[in-house]
Amino acid sequence: MTSTKIPNIKLNNGIYMPVIGYGTFNSFKENEVGDATRVALEVGYRHIDTAWVYKTEEEIGDAITQKIKDGLLKRSDLFLASKLWNTHHRPELVEEMCRESLKSLQTDYLDLYLIHWPFAVKAGGKTSEIDGRRPHDDVDFIDTWKAMEELVIKGLVKSIGVSNFNIQQLKRLLAADLRYKPAVNQVEVHPYYTNNELLDYCKQENIVVTAYSPLGRGGADSSGPGKSLNVHEDKTIKQIAAKYNKTTGQIVIRWGIDRGYTLVPKSVTPARIKQNFEIFDFSLTEEEVKTISNLNQDYKCVHLNQYKDYPEYPF
Ligand SMILES: NC(=O)c1ccc[n+]([C@@H]2O[C@H](COP(=O)([O-])OP(=O)(O)OC[C@H]3O[C@@H](n4cnc5c(N)ncnc54)[C@H](OP(=O)(O)O)[C@@H]3O)[C@@H](O)[C@H]2O)c1
Repeated sequence: MTSTKIPNIKLNNGIYMPVIGYGTFNSFKENEVGDATRVALEVGYRHIDTAWVYKTEEEIGDAITQKIKDGLLKRSDLFLASKLWNTHHRPELVEEMCRESLKSLQTDYLDLYLIHWPFAVKAGGKTSEIDGRRPHDDVDFIDTWKAMEELVIKGLVKSIGVSNFNIQQLKRLLAADLRYKPAVNQVEVHPYYTNNELLDYCKQENIVVTAYSPLGRGGADSSGPGKSLNVHEDKTIKQIAAKYNKTTGQIVIRWGIDRGYTLVPKSVTPARIKQNFEIFDFSLTEEEVKTISNLNQDYKCVHLNQYKDYPEYPF
């Protein structure tokens, strides 16, 4: 167990978010995420990123409840984030899905609730949420946002934000008559996809970015262009890792922190969960940050290509 003090970033509503969170997607073996979440909490992570669609909320809820019971932490020590899935963009469905997540996570409130994607799909049938394709649902994300605002008013969530929104979509949202601005945009960022333009825009608008797939998924590509780039095999990153006596994963996470955003690396391997958190005892030079940023190849890991023809598809 460590007592590392995790740096926070202040959101535009005054709430603080720990810069590093524990990512929980892509784990389908029973108890895998629950066990890994217990390790993450023991190691010191106090920010957990999940989503209704990951189907990991129940195990995460059990792990958190157990660790609170054990006296390791209080609920108020934790920054818990989840996401509204595309089937529930209709304003009358938003609270229902949020309450499902709250129930699974065994908590009264979320610290952050995100609209997972800017497009809506129809619910029902047996289509797989991640790989399948559901019919388009004509719901304006601005109407969804208004229902998200109601969740804040009701005290079910502390902050609201979006995920996978591009600059045009953010501009349209910000131009609407909002009660609350999005606090966060969670998007893909790693050395092969530095996403600079979107990051600059979010900074200008005081929206905190959370980098997903911050390790470039270790080369695993979901339905992408077929090539596979692995940050852990990159010569430049390896050289910098050797200089600091750190691993490539630690260098890539530190690069994100030194660029000024929050990150949610995922691992179910105890040694890596621990290692990915041991990044507060060094920092990169400006030159090294630039060198890693120059590795950009506009190479994305996450596509959801099956929805490419939907009007609000963001990429
Ligand atoms: N908003 C969205 O649409 C969206 C999309 C994708 C992801 N996310 C969020 O972002 C989180 C992270 O993204 P991700 O899971 O796609 O990818 P990632 O964190 O970039 O990479 C995860 C992969 O890297 C491996 N790994 C972890 N630490 C490592 C290390 N130190 N050295 C070598 N390999 C390491 C993991 O293996 P093991 O687990 O086997 O250790 C896993 O295969 C997700 O879990 C989810 O919470 C959000």
